[in-house]
Amino acid sequence: MTDFSNKVIYQIYPKSFNDSDGDGIGDLRGVTEKLDYLKDLGVDYLWLTPFFLSPQRDNGYDVADYRNIDPMFGTMEDLDNLIAESEKRNIGLMFDMVFNHTSTSHEWFRRALAGEKKYQDYYIFKEGSPNQPPTNWQSKFGGSAWEYVPSLSKWYLHLFDVTQADLNWENPEVKEELKEVIRFWKAKGVKGFRFDVVNLISKPEIWEDDFEGDGRRFYTDGPHVHEYLKELVHDTEIEEYVTVGEMSSTTLDHCIRYSGLEEKELSMCFNFHHLKVDYKNGNKWELMEPDYMELKALFEKWQTGMQIGNAWNALFWCNHDQPRIVSRLGNEEKYWKESAKMLAGMIHLMRGTPYIYQGEEIGMTNPHYTSIEQYVDVESRNYYEILLKEGKTKAEALEILAARSRDNSRTPMQWTDERYCGFSKTEPWIPVSDNFDKINVERQKQDKNSILKFYKKLIMLRKEKEVIAKGNIEFMETENADVLAYTRCLGKQQIFICCNFRGAESQMELTQEWMSGTKILGNYEVNHENNHGLLTLHPYEIIVLEKGED
Ligand code: NOJ
Repeated sequence: MTDFSNKVIYQIYPKSFNDSDGDGIGDLRGVTEKLDYLKDLGVDYLWLTPFFLSPQRDNGYDVADYRNIDPMFGTMEDLDNLIAESEKRNIGLMFDMVFNHTSTSHEWFRRALAGEKKYQDYYIFKEGSPNQPPTNWQSKFGGSAWEYVPSLSKWYLHLFDVTQADLNWENPEVKEELKEVIRFWKAKGVKGFRFDVVNLISKPEIWEDDFEGDGRRFYTDGPHVHEYLKELVHDTEIEEYVTVGEMSSTTLDHCIRYSGLEEKELSMCFNFHHLKVDYKNGNKWELMEPDYMELKALFEKWQTGMQIGNAWNALFWCNHDQPRIVSRLGNEEKYWKESAKMLAGMIHLMRGTPYIYQGEEIGMTNPHYTSIEQYVDVESRNYYEILLKEGKTKAEALEILAARSRDNSRTPMQWTDERYCGFSKTEPWIPVSDNFDKINVERQKQDKNSILKFYKKLIMLRKEKEVIAKGNIEFMETENADVLAYTRCLGKQQIFICCNFRGAESQMELTQEWMSGTKILGNYEVNHENNHGLLTLHPYEIIVLEKGED
């Protein structure tokens, strides 16, 4: 399979990236307008989240037609133009394939509802009485995972919103339909695919209640998932394409199989364990300070586990479902720049292919919305109601949303300090973050020490130094709760990375062999203090040292 170790992927949420036609919604032409910016940043691929025809109940992850573009994003001509212009710049496009479910507005589902047996078999319909769903499973967006259709006297499964009906992958016709979708986009010149929650596609043979959890243990990494993926990838001939699977609540063993070099499934996997270290008792809707020891343990487990398994990680902090990392693990105020750079370096220098989510490269923060009216996201709005029902006050529920909502990452991309932050000429579909006059691309282009420049440097380093792309990783200071440190090693080339999690000075032991290392990257201009092997790091400092032959 193709080696993607020195590539960097940039994620675009088109709705919030750049609005070319002044309707307050980002669009495909808007992406084309910014290709030179992305080329200059140095990224190799753009992953675009869904822009296909959709009622937008889940912002495009409810697809009504996999082969057509939603008019709010433009036309097929706009897309052809974007593909051609990206190609000219040697940037590949990756499309987002939402194959676990379709919108209930999809023709297949509508025909199923109209009584066509063929299309009912495309989904997971179960006979039952109106008062008794087939299982007690919960939807990931809150409430039951089943919806009753009185006209059919049947329930259908929706692991997400009620308008996102799960597809039946046991039906060979469904698999053939989905393969055709991939072939269609391949023929258009698309260079890769991201597969949405693809480890949920294989449902269990026995449908039973879950008395321990919300049902996920029965359908996550299901019985035929590897077989289905192999078939999809093989039959559409995308083995050499860049493919990434979004793996929800997965395990290391499964990810080794999904992305193992010998397996011919996917090039790499997203897992989310490291982004739950501030969930109290694993509950996203309960706040807690991040557990850094847990974060360190998870990085070590996944990085070394995937290395031993000869499998490949997708490296990321941010995406359209996650709050901004600088607001979460960094410091938005006093150490905004330092902490954004440290977090960037920590992840970009690990073993895997890094992803940058739009705005991360300029250190965009959560917007700190204060009213429920400012939120658009279906999950956030559902959970707001659930939290109130659980007895939280409005202020408490809003505080939780301000930290956890997916809308934190969906605010318009901050290009300039003009009104609507250079994203649009009209009021955008979702409120702009107030700090756009300070945090924007234009301003960082003028600043030689900007976060933007730091990301550029990280991307360049991965291309220049094989040890970053291909080196073995080993973790150090595993008992130190303040610092994350690791080395990468490829033959005689070696680098050492240490990162201070804290907004105060922290210390770590520097082994003899690294005392003479040459600093190749850092977020403080001053030299580091090395007192007989005890290294003192400034607040949120990152230091990268190199030794050996390059
Ligand atoms: C994961 C996507 O990233 C998220 O935005 C979406 O809501 C769910 N899958 C359902 O498609």
